[in-house]
Amino acid sequence: MILLLGGSGYIGEAFAQVLRQRGESFRSVSRRQVDYTDKPQLLELISNTGADFLINAAGFTGKPNVDACERRPVDTLAGNVLLPLTIHAACSEAGIAWGHISSGCIYSGAKVESDSGTAIQKDLLPILDVGQGEESTPQVTGFNEGDSPNFSFQALPCSFYSGTKAMAEECLVLSQADCYLWRLRIPFDERDHSRNYLSKLLRYPKAYQNYNSISHRFEFANACLDLYKSGADRGIYNITNPGFISTREVIAFIQSILKPSRSFEFWKDDDEFYRSIAKAPRSNCVLNTDKLSRAGIQLRPVREALVDSLENWNKDKD
Ligand SMILES: NC(=O)c1ccc[n+]([C@@H]2O[C@H](COP(=O)([O-])OP(=O)(O)OC[C@H]3O[C@@H](n4cnc5c(N)ncnc54)[C@H](OP(=O)(O)O)[C@@H]3O)[C@@H](O)[C@H]2O)c1
Repeated sequence: MILLLGGSGYIGEAFAQVLRQRGESFRSVSRRQVDYTDKPQLLELISNTGADFLINAAGFTGKPNVDACERRPVDTLAGNVLLPLTIHAACSEAGIAWGHISSGCIYSGAKVESDSGTAIQKDLLPILDVGQGEESTPQVTGFNEGDSPNFSFQALPCSFYSGTKAMAEECLVLSQADCYLWRLRIPFDERDHSRNYLSKLLRYPKAYQNYNSISHRFEFANACLDLYKSGADRGIYNITNPGFISTREVIAFIQSILKPSRSFEFWKDDDEFYRSIAKAPRSNCVLNTDKLSRAGIQLRPVREALVDSLENWNKDKD
């Protein structure tokens, strides 16, 4: 029996659907029913349900975006650091393993190969936008699970949200928590939703050009469950569709497949973007998914998953 916390949220609802499809016995719990942020109540819940695994899809993401986390640091710390530590305490007391939804947003940039070796480039725009189509386009590889976060309270600047996500990982690793840390990055799929990356791009007045690894929401949830079900070692896993893609390319796919009547504009540069609408620094990064592949789990390459989502846009409305 799997206990799902935060099943009312955008990621939690994908887990609930995938668990149903797979015929897993599970119980989705909202704070409205049980205050699972309180350790004694969580322990009682684990005991009453007979749960032998827990999925933590709860957290404080900030609405409508991460800027809200800058204004609500206490809620952000409570949802993203104290809650996972409370779950760790309860699960270790109950003797069950669990999985936590972490994030790739604790990194900025990627590793770039050149004649002089591999270096971390925090800002990919000057390298990749300039190099587009040229033979000298640099070789970009993503951060792997062993790389220290470079967009965190330990490596400023970062957003408050990213700082708390990195802090939770660090605390759980230091406490040797018996859990998976599943790193999600910019969720998208075929269902129009205010939290879907593709819906956001369709609605933003102007888009922000950058390069990122991204995660198909249902593939992500399935991969997390596959790791658990296959008995893979606990620890950190980057779970994105292999590769990375620029905002411009995603929008080009949207234009050619969905053919929206609107035109798309981009913020001229970071200065205009941050002056006009964004407060907290934004993470843009590439993640390496080799560890997931080595565990026998393969998500579709990023362009294939993206095109499929757009070709099936809103066809499946259940
Ligand atoms: N969406 C993304 O872009 C993204 C990307 C990377 C990682 N993540 C991570 O994935 C997890 C789920 O994110 P999501 O996008 O599904 O968020 P969401 O839609 O806001 O849902 C989160 C759920 O968490 C529960 N919750 C528990 N404590 C909370 C608190 N202090 N404040 C707010 N909600 C709280 C709420 O459920 P109840 O009140 O019903 O219990 C809420 O429905 C988070 O850990 C997030 O950091 C999300």
